[in-house]
Amino acid sequence: MRVAMIGAGYVGLVSGACFADFGHRVTIVDVDEGRIARLRAGEMPIYEPGLKELVAANVRAGRLAFTTSLADGMAGAEAVFIAVGTPSRRGDGHADLSFVYAAARDVALNLAGFTVIVTKSTVPVGTGDEVERIIRKTNPNADVAVASNPEFLREGAAIGDFKRPDRIVLGIEDPRAEAVLRELYRPLFLNEAPILVTRRRTAELIKYAANAFLAIKIGFINEMADLCEKVGANVQEVARGIGLDKRIGPKFLNAGPGYGGSCFPKDTRALIQTAEDQGTPVRIVEAAVKANDLRKRAMGRKVIGACGGDVRGKRLAVLGLTFKPGTDDMREAPSIAIIQALQDAGAAIIAHDPEGMEQAKLVLDGVTYADDPYAALDGADAMVLVTEWDEYRALDLARVRQLLRTPVVVDLRNIYRPEEMARHGFSYTGVGR
Ligand SMILES: NC(=O)c1ccc[n+]([C@@H]2O[C@H](COP(=O)([O-])OP(=O)(O)OC[C@H]3O[C@@H](n4cnc5c(N)ncnc54)[C@H](O)[C@@H]3O)[C@@H](O)[C@H]2O)c1
Repeated sequence: MRVAMIGAGYVGLVSGACFADFGHRVTIVDVDEGRIARLRAGEMPIYEPGLKELVAANVRAGRLAFTTSLADGMAGAEAVFIAVGTPSRRGDGHADLSFVYAAARDVALNLAGFTVIVTKSTVPVGTGDEVERIIRKTNPNADVAVASNPEFLREGAAIGDFKRPDRIVLGIEDPRAEAVLRELYRPLFLNEAPILVTRRRTAELIKYAANAFLAIKIGFINEMADLCEKVGANVQEVARGIGLDKRIGPKFLNAGPGYGGSCFPKDTRALIQTAEDQGTPVRIVEAAVKANDLRKRAMGRKVIGACGGDVRGKRLAVLGLTFKPGTDDMREAPSIAIIQALQDAGAAIIAHDPEGMEQAKLVLDGVTYADDPYAALDGADAMVLVTEWDEYRALDLARVRQLLRTPVVVDLRNIYRPEEMARHGFSYTGVGR
């Protein structure tokens, strides 16, 4: 089949490359000329494990191409996916749908023959209705079916998630759209990926409900971690103890510095706004958002406490900046709030991240960057572990001890064992243990 994918970001690029890998012919369209030029030169504009190789293989096979011209991208396409950004709108937390609607208008002007328009971006309930209205108004003769197909991939594991999804959700109003989408995803049905076909509004809500539920789960275990610290319990054991209950499940129960990233913060805010507009507030989600915001700032105070209550004039080594390992995405990363709190308290920050330093430079001021973790630790007054990249899991602790000026370690991801750290002579602070 022929597919046009609008948006060459984390979702568009991964989905487009994976559809091509299934054997479809995919053109990825983006308005960002620099991004398309880099992709054509074989360079990835984002870091995602395995993506470069997947893109290269499918470009070589003639199944994947990149363009800034929507007309070229849509030529002969049976399905056009909208995978542009839906950031938080400044001021009120609603999803900013201007990119989605602009794409819909452009799509309407380039239609020829029956086409399925699929919203893959995360969009509030009713956006599909508006996309359809825009297309019919812009091009009254167009023969289209507008569907919703929310994406659940995780950055850092995106290709595996796309190819082996827990489920595929299709929001359908016109059976012709279902037929096209089933055909597109057929290679996954052969792998028995469950497919859930719903009405369009339900599919749109499923995506927000999923992200909000996960955000609540993280928020819950983080509050349990705080309680554990007060009462002398161990949050990792609490998480295991509840996670073995199949009704709860073991995932998303790692206590840490709070969630960040390009999805949970904006999607929870958007769901709160939608629910408020409908007069049915989602108070549990509101509480999780508030707790998470407060937590990120509290983590700065936790580090200051571990450093004896004062970090003025101290040099703190921060390991890990991205919102999670396996990505270069810095959007709403907890490291931002933590570093700002430490800088406000007078600390100098020297940071390392395996993939995120270029993006970090765009959002953090006054930070010095080190080429490797040990260089960051050299002469520092404390090591603050914020993102659990694999390369931080097996640091040479004797060397770390030697490099640090004072042996203070704050491990906001609980990747080290307190007894082991004590054995190496560190003053060690984890989360909820
Ligand atoms: N990042 C994730 O892990 C993830 C996971 C699931 C769902 N989503 C959702 O998918 C959507 C995209 O997220 P992302 O992280 O890939 O965004 P992104 O910001 O990485 O990429 C969006 C891309 O769209 C391009 N674009 C904007 N308007 C355009 C237009 N009119 N025509 C062509 N290109 C245009 C931008 O230049 C950019 O390259 C969002 O709604 C997001 O919530 C993201």
